[in-house]
Amino acid sequence: MDLTKLKTTEGLDLSGKRVLYRADLNAPMQDGKVSDATRLQRIVEGLHDLSQRGARVVVLSHFGRPKAGPDKENSLKPVAEELSRLVGQPVQFAADCIGPAASEVVDALRPGSIAVLENTRFHPGETKNDPEFSAALAKLGDLYVNDAFSAAHRAHASTSGITKHLPSYAGPELMREISALKAALEDPKRPTAAVVGGAKVSTKIPILLNLVSKVDKLIIGGGMANTFLQSMGVFLAQSLVEPEFHYQAREIMVAAKGTGCQIVLPKDAVVAREFKSGAPSETVSIHKVPMEGMILDIGPASIEEMTGVIKACRTLLWNGPMGAFELAPFGEGTFALARVAASLTKSGALVSVAGGGDTVAALNAAGVTDDFTYVSTAGGAFLEWLEGKELPGVAALAS
Ligand code: 3PG
Ligand code: MG
Repeated sequence: MDLTKLKTTEGLDLSGKRVLYRADLNAPMQDGKVSDATRLQRIVEGLHDLSQRGARVVVLSHFGRPKAGPDKENSLKPVAEELSRLVGQPVQFAADCIGPAASEVVDALRPGSIAVLENTRFHPGETKNDPEFSAALAKLGDLYVNDAFSAAHRAHASTSGITKHLPSYAGPELMREISALKAALEDPKRPTAAVVGGAKVSTKIPILLNLVSKVDKLIIGGGMANTFLQSMGVFLAQSLVEPEFHYQAREIMVAAKGTGCQIVLPKDAVVAREFKSGAPSETVSIHKVPMEGMILDIGPASIEEMTGVIKACRTLLWNGPMGAFELAPFGEGTFALARVAASLTKSGALVSVAGGGDTVAALNAAGVTDDFTYVSTAGGAFLEWLEGKELPGVAALAS
């Protein structure tokens, strides 16, 4: 991706202009309230900027995965209320994202004010990237800004089709995200390391194959490391493994040999007999997992070796936990490596970029999210980017 092809609204006169601002308001909710506002906090700056420049700001977003038209559970209304609190100004809400209900709210917007339109996925045209639906959205704006990197892996009307109808720009958070990703993988300070964890290797094979051609060191932990170890004949007792993926694990190791990427696997482990918080556990060599045991975390010798690898690198990319971090005390491996990465970053020795699903939760639990260079709030989009895929939402802005 050529960053220079992405245009921002910098320098444009936006006063009185209707700006369709695509955000990702798909924030986790509990009991009808936003339970993690990180994604919303990340767009506050972009909204303030547009509002202060006199734009009439119209926020577009999907929420959840509604199947059959509008439903209360997937309404953006409570999210719009939370957003209003965060930006510190009233946020209007339109009960539909196209048609008269939307245009009435948009027409009434004054320069500097903000409206959120109801969930774009309430219309089937959104996920079908339907040209008519894209045109109906585009009618509501004079220009389009996409600040939703985390939805950029979807070729939908509000992320892709709409760019055919309006002058289209990249928002500030999307730009920050892409620069961070480029600094981590496309154009990094070397040597580089990637830490990849999580339960299953099956979901990350394309990522690992891409990474071995890009990074100097690949640290593998979590349940997915087990499949690699077992494919080399290590006995892992009751641990989670995917024996049907031995072949792919070996293929990744062969590819790594070919590119000169060093793969680092756990040499010891914390094992327990039950998958539950507080389960009695012991630390054993990876070659001595007891018959009844299952691996729930990397052990201290692995932490030491992996720490050494991270310390010798200047760039680190992180996706996925090293163990069952959500069950105490099996988060220690993840937390120890996260703390090392955070303190090296703070001292200026390391560029650290993390993202994808569980990763943010793991870093939050370690209390180090703010110390990383950049932590992406994207799930699927981050993973697809790690696979080396082009993201349609970004490509649409660059064409
Ligand atoms: C996400 O939560 O990863 C984004 O909002 C995209 O959502 P989706 O996976 O439902 O397209
Ligand atoms: Mg998702």
